[in-house]
Amino acid sequence: MKLIDLRSDTVTKPTPAMRRAMMEAEVGDDVYGEDPTVNRLQDVAAEIFEKEAALFVPTGSMGNQIAVKLHTKPGAEVVIEERGHIYNYEMAAMSAISGALARPVKSADGSGILQWGDIKAAIHANDAPYYVAPTKLIALENSHNLAGGAVMTRERTEELCAQAHRLNIPVHLDGARIFNAAVALDEPIAALARPADSVMFCFSKGLGAPVGSMLLGTKDFINEARAWRKLLGGGMRQAGVLAAAALVALEESPARLIEDHTNARRLAEGLAEIQGIEVDLERVVTNIVIFDVAETNLDANDICAGLRERGVLASAFDQRRIRMVTHYDVLQKEIDDALAELRSVLEEQRPKTVNSAFH
Ligand SMILES: Cc1ncc(COP(=O)(O)O)c(C=O)c1O
Repeated sequence: MKLIDLRSDTVTKPTPAMRRAMMEAEVGDDVYGEDPTVNRLQDVAAEIFEKEAALFVPTGSMGNQIAVKLHTKPGAEVVIEERGHIYNYEMAAMSAISGALARPVKSADGSGILQWGDIKAAIHANDAPYYVAPTKLIALENSHNLAGGAVMTRERTEELCAQAHRLNIPVHLDGARIFNAAVALDEPIAALARPADSVMFCFSKGLGAPVGSMLLGTKDFINEARAWRKLLGGGMRQAGVLAAAALVALEESPARLIEDHTNARRLAEGLAEIQGIEVDLERVVTNIVIFDVAETNLDANDICAGLRERGVLASAFDQRRIRMVTHYDVLQKEIDDALAELRSVLEEQRPKTVNSAFH
């Protein structure tokens, strides 16, 4: 039985074209800067993002944390939306590696997409008293994973970055899924990336490559980043085999992300029809669907366990919230199948209303 794996878009397997490109890749030692395929990938990415330079890194987390390291100093604060990946899912690396403290903030409208008012109140700028930690970085995320794939518009990105720069605070953009955001907003990638000082994006998520992410910024920033990548153990040798798959991903995948978004929409609409499930349809604009099962009176973990027995994989965040993510290994029919399986699991697990004491 083929599993319907909706846990994440990281689970995709390389396409036949990627595997061919990996097999035929021209390679060299990238620690010496001599891997032609890695060099080409970095050049192509820098061009798409309209940044001076780019650095291929093994993971998104490493790209984000190198950026945090370079923008901050020990004892500094990083303002970030409270559900941000850099803060919640990167092993407290900003404190372990950079000695920095996250200053999580809520988005006033609950969307996960910050407004300047949300950020402003949390900033300790140059005129703050000496005994508070200075804000050295604002970290944004587009699309925002834990906020259900919500997207930040070009205008909002420009405004937040302009305000930050007025206070001499740099902005790092965690664009793990920036291609999804660009498709949903119908904007060029560069328009969403340009205002930020540094950007990270992943090949290994919706773009479907097996491994790798990219960090982008100025030439000086990327030169320093290369040293930090090595220090963290991320200097890879014949990494061209990975870069070759990433090049195919860049070329082929963005055009088909719209299918993932359509499937996520179909999934969300199906979920909204199931009694006890709450999903905010307005917020489902990319490939992530987060829904609340509290009204079913069942535990999200139990529901996911039941789904797994029926060949459907999903992630429970806590007792009430489940995340499902669409990607190219999930077809429209499988979305319908997953919905049918979920209905069966709920039927099976729903507490029986009949009082057994009378029997
Ligand atoms: C928004 C976001 N940023 C960063 C990362 C980290 O990427 P990686 O798993 O490659 O370290 C992820 C991974 O899920 C993510 O969702």
